[in-house]
Amino acid sequence: MTDIHFIVEPGGSLHGCLRVPGDKSISHRAIMFGALAEGLTTITGFLDGEDCLATLRAFRAMGVHIDGPDQGRVTVHGVGLQGLRAPTGPLDMGNSGTSMRLMSGILAGQAFDTVLTGDASLTRRPMRRVTEPLTQMGAWIEATDKGSAPLRIHGGQRLVGMDYRMPVASAQVKSSLLLAGLYAEGETRVTEPAPTRDHTERMLEGFGYALRREGEGTVAVTGGGRLTATTIDVPADISSAAFFLVGASIAPGSDLTLEHVGVNPTRTGAIDILRLMGANIEMLNPRRAGGESVADLRVRYAPLHGIRIPEALVPLAIDEFPALFIAAACADGETVLTGAEELRVKESDRIQVMADGLTTLGIAARPTADGIVIRGGALTGGTVESHGDHRIAMSFAMAGLRAGGLTRIHDCANVNTSFPGFVSLARNAGLTITEQGRA
Ligand code: S3P
Repeated sequence: MTDIHFIVEPGGSLHGCLRVPGDKSISHRAIMFGALAEGLTTITGFLDGEDCLATLRAFRAMGVHIDGPDQGRVTVHGVGLQGLRAPTGPLDMGNSGTSMRLMSGILAGQAFDTVLTGDASLTRRPMRRVTEPLTQMGAWIEATDKGSAPLRIHGGQRLVGMDYRMPVASAQVKSSLLLAGLYAEGETRVTEPAPTRDHTERMLEGFGYALRREGEGTVAVTGGGRLTATTIDVPADISSAAFFLVGASIAPGSDLTLEHVGVNPTRTGAIDILRLMGANIEMLNPRRAGGESVADLRVRYAPLHGIRIPEALVPLAIDEFPALFIAAACADGETVLTGAEELRVKESDRIQVMADGLTTLGIAARPTADGIVIRGGALTGGTVESHGDHRIAMSFAMAGLRAGGLTRIHDCANVNTSFPGFVSLARNAGLTITEQGRA
């Protein structure tokens, strides 16, 4: 069991130029599409974190030859949509919801059986959101009585396309169904209640697969096509950049540039929310990289004020709320979040866990069923629990910049799922953070 704590000394500011690791969502999809394509897919900027490695290992276990990762470079020897082979044992998705939900869609269309497992957090998370619609398409998937993993996915089923209106705004559900749609007879149409990240759609097109977009919020694919290998340049992950956007915004004197960050408009909600709070964030050198928008982000300290967060921005900032709550704790006045009940079923219950930690640090934070109310104040320092949630750990690390005393964060090993090297990168930028513990 790995037991790692972060200890952050109070004060400091963030400076310089840095590049955070590759985008997690895009890295997962690059492996999946590369494996299912015909030919050699070359990936650069791949996120060498535990979540994406779980996806990579799963495809290796199904007979796909993959070279790397070597300094972000991965080569996937695609086997084609029908080329996967039965693994010899269960596929362990670790902490990664994206791996489990997207892979369910792919595996529902195979000729062989598979079992998907995960760690304590992942096996608590809701899977009916994918197993139910996949079942409607003809898949046969067994889950626990609670609808959670392990999932036993029976192969050899005939999938038929369908028209599905998603009850939750979830890119993972949308992607899972589109991937199953590649194996289904006829057309699979998915309509989302609000825009969510569209990396799957962009990547399908990048791999030469026809996709139909119908007005606002509906996408459709027809099964029976093929994916053609391509090259993918993965930009830096805006969800990892978000900790530094918040850190530099709250720490007086900060002036930091984050390089080559993916700024796909379905991912930039955190920038919009921080700007509404008064943050000073500039998007420099906007450009394109492999079908995605990229820019350098310059962020300087600015006094923040509390806001009512527009609900339309929630799915576009869904992973950034733990960091945004730290910004709210340092803002003048009250910040109110609603329409974000999804935060309760992430790697941890991010509403409760953040409210508990903020309260420990002397901030008035009141959880509600679908959000939180935070009154800005003085962070005291203290000991908080991350509950093994990578984004909670990194968010509280940034709180140290404004704390009155030492901030100690427990259970930080999972930072490696999305942000290997966080401690040294943060230290180089100006955070006085150390890591303690044993492997
Ligand atoms: C992801 C979608 C989001 C996000 C997750 C990654 C993806 O989940 O929280 O970290 O890569 O599709 P939901 O779509 O379930 O909100």
